Amino acid sequence: MAIEISDSKFRPMDDNTIIALLSGKGPDEALYEEADRIRREIYGDAVYLRGLIEISNYCRNNCYYCGIRKGNTKLDRYRLDKDTILACCRDGYALGFRTFVLQGGEDPYYGDEPYGSTDGDERLCDIVSEIHTRYPDCAVTLSMGERTRESYQRLFDAGARRYLLRHESASPDLYRTLHPAEMSLENRMRCLYDLKEIGYQVGAGLMVGAPGQTLDHLLYDIHFMQRLQPDMIGIGPYLRHSDTPFGRSSAQCAQGLHREQKLNLTLRLLAVLRILFPYALLPSTTALGTIDPEGRTLGLKAGANVIMPNLSPAEVRDQYAIYENKLSTGAESAQQVALLKQQVSDAGYQIVTDIGDVKCH
Ligand code: 5AD
Repeated sequence: MAIEISDSKFRPMDDNTIIALLSGKGPDEALYEEADRIRREIYGDAVYLRGLIEISNYCRNNCYYCGIRKGNTKLDRYRLDKDTILACCRDGYALGFRTFVLQGGEDPYYGDEPYGSTDGDERLCDIVSEIHTRYPDCAVTLSMGERTRESYQRLFDAGARRYLLRHESASPDLYRTLHPAEMSLENRMRCLYDLKEIGYQVGAGLMVGAPGQTLDHLLYDIHFMQRLQPDMIGIGPYLRHSDTPFGRSSAQCAQGLHREQKLNLTLRLLAVLRILFPYALLPSTTALGTIDPEGRTLGLKAGANVIMPNLSPAEVRDQYAIYENKLSTGAESAQQVALLKQQVSDAGYQIVTDIGDVKCH
């Protein structure tokens, strides 16, 4: 059956329409309904689960917004070893997870350069291939930052099939104000295009309401993603962390959006993305659940179709504090999947036990 999504009054969406939709105040039920209609035509009422395993909070980078930045000396650092990661997968598999996302800071221990007795790459490849062998019906997703093309290829050869690397901002000026000079948008883009060329399903994304971000920046991000054509797009509200340069700066706080504004803008952007990228996998993120108790459900209703509960060992969850008050218990915890199923079904969707690949573009 032909999908007639082009009949929509929202498609094609020109830049003025996008800006008008994003600048509206409060919720926009008509927009969310349209996004939901498109999502149902392609993905039905399915919500895909991803088990998120936060394997290390060491990071060589110093992003101004992020709580696990290298310069945060107040944070207790940890990394999970292979056995612990495999135990998370075992628990997750039993709970119905068919995707495991290994996420971490850019920790040299799991990095792409020699580190200690064994190469970081080798260590990570070994874990990926073990998961791949043990769970051939599951997808291994990586979210381990910027690496060389060779490293991405080795990890792909080891069995990883998806990679999440938010581009953070496609505008060079905003990118520079969010990151120190050692980091470059150019390298970020190089990584994303390398990943695509190698054959990964690729996730890009950004924080909504990041300090200094305007609607024009978001439009720029949309244009960039229209060129990249990512399979997944992760967006969530920016949330402050006091042990970061942005968290400490009162100027950054003063110019930022309020909680309610960030929530609504995130939901509006999610819906716009669903309309512009009908086939994309769009997570209703932890940050959305953190900014509002109903956030994750609202995200689903605005077009999101993926939820990534936390499968990390309970004792390290608080340490993966990219922002403050990050949720990791209740329905956010993989162990509480029954509660999550109930919430999702109350919202009118169904959690499915499925590998949850992107449908063809
Ligand atoms: N608030 C919201 N999201 C954040 N991230 C990092 N720091 C914050 C923050 N303070 C996001 C970034 C990163 C992802 C893993 O988490 O977009 O890519």
